[in-house]
Amino acid sequence: MSPPISVRERVMAAFTHHFGRQPALLARAPGRVNLIGEHTDYNDGFVLPMGIDRAAWLAVRPRSDERVHVYAHDLNDEATFDLNALDRAQRGWVAYIQGTLWALGEAGVPLVGWDGVLASNVPRGAGLSSSAAVELVVARAAVALAGTLWDAPRMAKVAQRAENEWVGMACGIMDQMASACARRDHALLLDCRSLAIEYVPLPRDVVTVVLDTGTRRGLVDSAYNERRAQCEAAAAFFGVSALRDVDEATFAARAHELDECTRRRARHVITENARTLAAAEALRNGDDKRMGDLMVASHASLRDDFEVSMPALDAMVECALDAPGCYGARMTGAGFGGCAVALVAADQAEAFCKQVVACYTARTSHTPQVYVCHAEDGADVEA
Ligand code: GLA
Repeated sequence: MSPPISVRERVMAAFTHHFGRQPALLARAPGRVNLIGEHTDYNDGFVLPMGIDRAAWLAVRPRSDERVHVYAHDLNDEATFDLNALDRAQRGWVAYIQGTLWALGEAGVPLVGWDGVLASNVPRGAGLSSSAAVELVVARAAVALAGTLWDAPRMAKVAQRAENEWVGMACGIMDQMASACARRDHALLLDCRSLAIEYVPLPRDVVTVVLDTGTRRGLVDSAYNERRAQCEAAAAFFGVSALRDVDEATFAARAHELDECTRRRARHVITENARTLAAAEALRNGDDKRMGDLMVASHASLRDDFEVSMPALDAMVECALDAPGCYGARMTGAGFGGCAVALVAADQAEAFCKQVVACYTARTSHTPQVYVCHAEDGADVEA
């Protein structure tokens, strides 16, 4: 049985067990893996993620009052709160739920109370957007309970607001847009300025493999904010609102005027935007070799210029590139731990996974998880 089905059943059974009745609605929102376009979203640039077949699930039933009673099945923890008394001081998993409900209320969605059971098989802190999945599943369920129309990009912005202003993480828009708007068998080329999406079909002769290093990111918030500030400083130097507006030629002409660190940070973003557009083109043309080469270049840029990789991620990528059928591999997500992603010939996926596990286990003291991922639809709900 594939993992999402089992989480679905776990949530349904837990709801009946916990609340003594069937849920009225079941919502699902996927995690995402980013194929290329890293640390470009908050520079108004381009990203190319896909939704994955790992997701957060939330079974709910409306209540007649304005209270929310939610049980987090993975954590065996529960919380009860009043919609009129959301509490910013609450941290942990409840903050993602309260923050999303707060942002929905701010956006004018009429909220009702509910009982719910939440569970997810998106690994936490692994760079696969487990928090965006929780935000979007809460939004999807709450909008269905409110009986209002689901506007996926708008809800992605609501979820991002929850993360920025309630949870306090200054993330860009990629993760929420991917979880809200993903499409089965496609990657989405997202323009993070206009939020325009082009769905790019994934070639059938390759699979996407997630390579979890078994490390979890640490200190990511401070390093992330520092990178953002460096990018903003570089944009100000070029007299533009975001690095999206600096092309490679303009950069080359004036790069020597920047200090060495800012220059490397800007170079990553500017070249990564170009690589992302080229990658979408490569996918459209079924040019797996080109796509793979762009992923490899992206990793080198993230490692050397943006400095958000780390030894376990580098080892994983090197193991992947040595394994059979691999077109390309790179770290994915914010960095500092978590997952890499590889593009692999479908008919060699099994041999690839085996060899990467053996190589990585021999080179590091961590336990890897390596699995083929299928591109799934964004947040949805069933009655
Ligand atoms: C995290 C953030 C995203 C994006 C990536 C890096 O996942 O939540 O907005 O900035 O890092 O590409």
